[in-house]
Amino acid sequence: MSGQPDKDLNTVQTADGSLTLRDRKTNELYHNSGGALLEAVENYVKPARLEGLLQRRGRAKTSDSSCTPTVGEDLETGTTGGTMRARDDSTLRFLDVCFGLGYNTFAVWQHVLNAPYLPFDKIEATAIELDVELFKLWPTILRQECFRTLNDALRDQSGKSISENLEALARIGVPPKAVQFNYQAREGPPFVLNMKFADLREAVPMLAMEEPSSYDLIFHDPFSPRMMQQFWTVELFKDYFNLLRPDCGALLTYSAASAVRGGLIEAGFSIFRTKGVGVKNGGTLACRTGSTELVDGLIFNMFDEEVERLKTVSGIPYRDPSRLDSTKEVLKRREQEQKMFKANQSQSV
Ligand SMILES: C[S@@+](CC[C@H](N)C(=O)[O-])C[C@H]1O[C@@H](n2cnc3c(N)ncnc32)[C@H](O)[C@@H]1O
Repeated sequence: MSGQPDKDLNTVQTADGSLTLRDRKTNELYHNSGGALLEAVENYVKPARLEGLLQRRGRAKTSDSSCTPTVGEDLETGTTGGTMRARDDSTLRFLDVCFGLGYNTFAVWQHVLNAPYLPFDKIEATAIELDVELFKLWPTILRQECFRTLNDALRDQSGKSISENLEALARIGVPPKAVQFNYQAREGPPFVLNMKFADLREAVPMLAMEEPSSYDLIFHDPFSPRMMQQFWTVELFKDYFNLLRPDCGALLTYSAASAVRGGLIEAGFSIFRTKGVGVKNGGTLACRTGSTELVDGLIFNMFDEEVERLKTVSGIPYRDPSRLDSTKEVLKRREQEQKMFKANQSQSV
């Protein structure tokens, strides 16, 4: 296999000048046409509020009862078994699900590089992506002007930039299913990317067993719940809940669909609205802690009508108990649950 990005033909320029892809199967763009980078920044980087993250860890631990460790959870580490992760270190740890072209991770990294006052001593991303072929496009993404700071600053062990490093690897062939990339700026923390080329419905439950209560943030970015309901289920959201740190853990996604928010609430999350890019109802911030600070122009309470809608059939979530069901099966199960809900409602009137 050559290092040529054969998916280049499918690339589309978005309104902010950054490149995205069109998926051949669903015909969906990987990003909002308003901007691939813009979407990563507005939907994920800004509402992640990295500036206050370490303070939120400590504060929630003492003041928020929802941070009480669950049964069997280790008080020191916040884990229920599996890999023990030190709780009080200054590593920023996030999970990027459906890594795609890498915008969400790369935008976080660039934000950290642009904010040297951020107190992280290591930035560790774990990413899940099914399509290994996308690997060949990452150098093209990183060489864009919008990622110049990142690509100029970070180097691999031999001094190559990230794009050069990835290009060299792509010339060798496809990477293994699990691979770690390590980069370092001249000054500043190390940046680690643990890449898993896998189906998220297999990889996420496994990770939830191996690394519970370990992640500060999860970015959930699959194709839309209109097309791919099996990636927006209560079962998946419960795994996310377990993966997040009990004191500050939060999930971000672009979707504001009632079925999605209903599923997140059933999984234990508290829900807030984010600004979102190119969408009327914004995106969603789901906090493992019971509350979070609202931020002007960034983090909002849900509208009253959204809260009301969640109590109707619209708020009934997608379910996938076997984690193997097709889109059709997941949809059918929800329709049946909606029918039962309506029948119960008319009986109680
Ligand atoms: C909306 S795009 C993600 C955009 C990405 N976050 C970015 O910044 O480029 C959805 C991604 O989900 C991936 N995907 C589709 N099915 C998947 C699965 N079962 N497991 C993991 N990833 C999957 C696609 O290959 C695609 O890259």
